[in-house]
Amino acid sequence: MTDKKIYILAIESSCDDTSAAVLCNAKVLSNVVATQEIHKQYGGVVPELASRAHQQNIVPVVHQALAKANIDKKQLSAIAFTRGPGLMGSLLVGTSFAKSLALGLDIPLIEVNHMEAHILAHFIDDENGASPTFPFLGMTISGGHTQIVKVSDHFTMEVLGETLDDAVGEAFDKSAKLMGLPYPGGPLVDKYARLGNPSAFDFPKPKVDGLNFSFSGLKTSILYFLQRETQKNPNFVAENINDICASVQHTILEILMEKLHMTVEQTGIKEVAIGGGVAANSGIRARLKEAEETLGWKTYIPKFEYCTDNAAMIGIVGYLKFEKGQFTDQSVAAKARYAIGS
Ligand code: KG4
Ligand code: ZN
Repeated sequence: MTDKKIYILAIESSCDDTSAAVLCNAKVLSNVVATQEIHKQYGGVVPELASRAHQQNIVPVVHQALAKANIDKKQLSAIAFTRGPGLMGSLLVGTSFAKSLALGLDIPLIEVNHMEAHILAHFIDDENGASPTFPFLGMTISGGHTQIVKVSDHFTMEVLGETLDDAVGEAFDKSAKLMGLPYPGGPLVDKYARLGNPSAFDFPKPKVDGLNFSFSGLKTSILYFLQRETQKNPNFVAENINDICASVQHTILEILMEKLHMTVEQTGIKEVAIGGGVAANSGIRARLKEAEETLGWKTYIPKFEYCTDNAAMIGIVGYLKFEKGQFTDQSVAAKARYAIGS
């Protein structure tokens, strides 16, 4: 890597967070995230409202990121932005903004795949410590994604398994909604689960071949289970919230860990790097720690602010691509579906 100071302004707008970050090489100088609260009242992200909120947020968020980093836009070396995957209306806001700013400043433009960025967030240089060594397995688990990727180097990635329906975060959130908990329910399920018995109730695990996942069946079985039990006792949920949450979380973690174990066995790779909002879950953290102690895995989780959707992870990819001279031209367009490695 170079001794030169490369300043990257990064922009992320793929879903419901408008974010801008400034990096100096691999170090994050600022990482501003405007989370769109409007979706809470709908119990999930409303695409049309998300793109409107991005339009309102993008200019102030970029200003704030530059101010916090104490960097003038004339100092910037390049602009990196999320090209996809994500919601088209949301991606268009960040993409158009990044293209115009790069054109205005006459500096290079760098497109970033959001899923690759979740994985390369592990290479942000911070006090969190070591980055994984190649080859490693990257598992991204969030409200929008569930994916296991073999990472051979910064730019050679292969998807080994992914969800066929709901993402793992959705499984948490939809189960929580059935229990009457507010959106997003994942952190609450985690909180109540700590006080409950994970074997209190049994939910079936899906049978999915290979390394892929499925979570939609779980939601249905929880729905039927709760309907049955509340018919017998209208206070069933309130009286058993800890045990229900512990059992639901246990089932979700069993599904995740089973596939992760299979992947480690099949590839022989024991370096496991986790990212995405669900990486905050205390149960998954405990399982990974256990695998370190009993199976000799090495596991990595970035700082929480680099797990959830954020522009710093777009910025680190921007920096890595800048070093390789991987720029894009002004004809680039947002891509709602954008597979890793394509
Ligand atoms: O990465 P993220 O902020 O946004 C997406 O790109 O989706 O992830 C948000 C997801 C939500 O589904 C939320 O419920 C879940 O992460 N989540 C958790 C926990 N903290 C956040 N799920 C389980 N346990 C947690 N502690
Ligand atoms: Zn994401």
